[in-house]
Amino acid sequence: MTYETIFTRSLNRRLEKKNMGFRALMGCVVVVLFLCVVVKPYIGPLPFLSLEQSITSGLEMFMSTKGGDEPQQSWSSIVHNLTNSRSQVYDMYGDIIRIHGNSSTIFIPSIHQHITNSNWTTKPYARLFDKTAMKRVRKFTIIHQTLENLPHCTRNFTSPAIIFSTGGYAGNNYHDFADVLMPLYSTSQQFSKNVIFLVADFHSYWTYEYKLILDNLSEHHIIDIDKENEVLCFPRLIVGLKANKELSVDRSLQFPPISTANFTNFLRNTYSSERVSVGNECKKTNTRGPRLLIISRNETRHLTNGDKVANMARSMGFEVVVREIGWEKPKVAKFVNSFDVMIGVHGAGLTNMVFLPEKAVLIQIVPFALDSVAKSYYDEPTKDMNLRYLEYKVSLNESSLYGKYPIDSEIYRNPGSMHDKGWLVFKSIYMDNQDVNVDLDRFRITLLKALELVCR
Ligand SMILES: *[C@@H]1O[C@H](CO)[C@@H](O)[C@H](O)[C@H]1NC(C)=O
Ligand SMILES: *[C@@H]1O[C@H](CO)[C@@H](O)[C@H](O)[C@H]1NC(C)=O
Ligand SMILES: *[C@@H]1O[C@H](CO)[C@@H](O)[C@H](O)[C@H]1NC(C)=O
Ligand SMILES: *[C@@H]1O[C@H](CO)[C@@H](O)[C@H](O)[C@H]1NC(C)=O
Ligand SMILES: *[C@@H]1O[C@H](CO)[C@@H](O)[C@H](O)[C@H]1NC(C)=O
Ligand SMILES: *[C@@H]1O[C@H](CO)[C@@H](O)[C@H](O)[C@H]1NC(C)=O
Ligand SMILES: *[C@@H]1O[C@H](CO)[C@@H](O)[C@H](O)[C@H]1NC(C)=O
Ligand SMILES: *[C@@H]1O[C@H](CO)[C@@H](O)[C@H](O)[C@H]1NC(C)=O
Repeated sequence: MTYETIFTRSLNRRLEKKNMGFRALMGCVVVVLFLCVVVKPYIGPLPFLSLEQSITSGLEMFMSTKGGDEPQQSWSSIVHNLTNSRSQVYDMYGDIIRIHGNSSTIFIPSIHQHITNSNWTTKPYARLFDKTAMKRVRKFTIIHQTLENLPHCTRNFTSPAIIFSTGGYAGNNYHDFADVLMPLYSTSQQFSKNVIFLVADFHSYWTYEYKLILDNLSEHHIIDIDKENEVLCFPRLIVGLKANKELSVDRSLQFPPISTANFTNFLRNTYSSERVSVGNECKKTNTRGPRLLIISRNETRHLTNGDKVANMARSMGFEVVVREIGWEKPKVAKFVNSFDVMIGVHGAGLTNMVFLPEKAVLIQIVPFALDSVAKSYYDEPTKDMNLRYLEYKVSLNESSLYGKYPIDSEIYRNPGSMHDKGWLVFKSIYMDNQDVNVDLDRFRITLLKALELVCR
């Protein structure tokens, strides 16, 4: 997992501010599109609208075709640029969009000579700001072509399609959800399963792992687009997945609106998880205590006194299970859903909170110097999932980093300066070589709060 987010956050904020103006512009574009689509039958061919050339050219075309004779060839396409700082997304429709998978080329029919030479590239993976991830994503070239230069359709589809990549960091539990599955839900939910998934950087283990989710989002066979040597033709093609923040559903431009809670609810339906919300177990007499899952990590960021934490929790009335979470999603989903409280040191295992019932409590143990990533990756997303969040910040004397370096080391005094030396330096010091041994007296206070939350 990487955390280049830290470096790019302020940049993102700046970009988002810029986007406000961009959104206003988009509003105008939507109005123009509406006019064109609705009024089209009465006025002749649709203009091509690239967002670059944008509104004015769209209006010009609209005006210029209004009184004129009907051209013989009445066809054109619209490209909707939904790109933000997190993801490049192009939504194309109007005329038949063609894709030749093996050469990663998408063809947009165009009647306008002046744009027929314009083309651009895009990578359909929602972590645009992370160079390492994006290097592992297949690049697609999008080309405007006049009719005579378009390749011949060898397979015609009547449903829309979405292209996305399972390269990047896919295969890591966190990134599977944050970069692929939640953005895929945001992008595909509007089609009520009548949508075709074209997967780039295809891995059969990955589509197998998430088969139930994919089957519940699309009723069509998945196409391994890298291998495809035919020219596939679609009435509408979306390249890339919509995303706007970590581990969340992008609700922009969705109607009716959807939320992250819709996604976790979708997961519970998909995996037939029984518990929608935490009940009131503790109040009933002669019944079990609240169930507590401690996610263990063997290799890095190990909770050294996990056994003692487990025993203390048991003595407080919790029913405790300590487990390293495996891979078979249907089993994991049901298992995690049976808990009321989940504890773990910051890391991909915490992603399993997507399977918890609503109102469950997530306790994140935040190792020394990892506050910022802890917040954006797991703290903030809990709010949209209707979970409760508690945090246990590890102080230096509970960290295995203590005593490892001279007492006045920059590593203790100024972790930010390690960022400046590069992500890999930071990662190696604080992520890959830090275990934690929590202060039991202090941790008890956090557990008591959790108990109060689930038993209230
Ligand atoms: C799409 O929008 C993004 C962000 O505004 C911009 O950087 C990019 O150049 C646009 N793409 C095209 C093909 O115009
Ligand atoms: C894409 O456009 C560039 C410059 O506009 C041109 O040199 C290049 O040949 C084009 N590529 C294709 C595949 O049309
Ligand atoms: C697909 O449709 C186009 C035009 O709509 C037609 O020319 C072409 O023959 C069709 N291809 C197949 C394989 O049916
Ligand atoms: C796709 O193209 C590559 C070369 O770019 C080639 O090696 C490969 O065999 C092609 N795959 C198929 C299924 O045609
Ligand atoms: C999303 O959740 C809201 C509120 O619970 C609900 O009204 C809506 O139907 C849900 N939408 C979908 C697509 O599940
Ligand atoms: C997903 O699949 C499950 C089980 O197959 C089904 O009960 C549920 O209604 C499906 N949900 C959606 C949104 O299709
Ligand atoms: C983690 O540790 C447990 C018990 O110490 C062991 O059973 C398990 O195989 C380990 N897992 C890995 C991936 O090393
Ligand atoms: C550990 O450090 C915290 C503050 O950083 C302090 O309150 C606590 O007493 C220390 N514990 C020990 C055992 O030194």
